[in-house]
Amino acid sequence: MTTKKKPILNELFESRNKHIELAPEIDKNEFIKTVTSRRSVRVYNKQKVNEEDMRSCIELALLAPNSSNLQPWEFYWVRTIAKKNKLVEYCLGQPAAATAQELVVAVARPDYWKVNQKKMLKKINEMGEKAPRSAIKYYDKIVPLAYRQGFLSIRGYLKKIAMELRGIKKPTPREPYSKRGMAVWAHKSTALACENLMLALRAYGYDSCPMEGIDSTRIKKLLELKKPAEISMVISAGKRAENGVYGKQVRFNSKYFIHEL
Ligand SMILES: Cc1cc2nc3c(=O)[nH]c(=O)nc-3n(C[C@H](O)[C@H](O)[C@H](O)COP(=O)(O)O)c2cc1C
Repeated sequence: MTTKKKPILNELFESRNKHIELAPEIDKNEFIKTVTSRRSVRVYNKQKVNEEDMRSCIELALLAPNSSNLQPWEFYWVRTIAKKNKLVEYCLGQPAAATAQELVVAVARPDYWKVNQKKMLKKINEMGEKAPRSAIKYYDKIVPLAYRQGFLSIRGYLKKIAMELRGIKKPTPREPYSKRGMAVWAHKSTALACENLMLALRAYGYDSCPMEGIDSTRIKKLLELKKPAEISMVISAGKRAENGVYGKQVRFNSKYFIHEL
């Protein structure tokens, strides 16, 4: 009798798992209130954001789900007056930045797959005997296979040919295939963290506005960031001024966006 080899992902998620984490009860109405009262605020009042609240909200951003738990993001809370003034200028002076109490730059880090792969392997190794072998295999072998693109993305393009051919016959993991694909990869997780931050701010009684109407090149320079780091968005925070929300929230009919098959 031949034993069928389990796919690596099944191994990773099913084998020897003894961790039990119960889901706590949640007041869904409080969540609905948080989501529905979050609006992009363009004018803030003069009320400060409590420093500890701001720090807690940024920490909550880091709890967002992220690809392979490789956390391909950074958050720069720009606090010094001189840098903040520059950042407002690079947000093109828009009121959502100019009137904000706090500004955070969310940065996508495509290169962090490698940095955090190493950190993850170190963490797993520190578990000693208890370290799940499948996790070591995943971070040691699968992660480089999935994310290393090589010089001029040549490795990525070779992977593309191999995977697209394989994909003709069976379900196959595909992208990212290039440095650009890695940027998309990092932006996806970073954007999820941004939403965590904005919802956290709302839950703490504050407001926010995400901004991509920005001069990303100048902001990168201000933060002394180099390629392949990319600015995902700038998020402003504070409390809404009376006329801080420009109008009623507009969404098109959900029938255009939600498809049940
Ligand atoms: C990635 C992204 C970039 C945005 N950039 C800007 C911006 O530069 N300036 C601004 O005033 N609003 C910006 N917004 C806010 C959107 O205009 C806003 O989310 C949209 O109009 C829906 O309104 P709501 O957030 O109040 O629901 C941005 C939103 C996102 C998600």
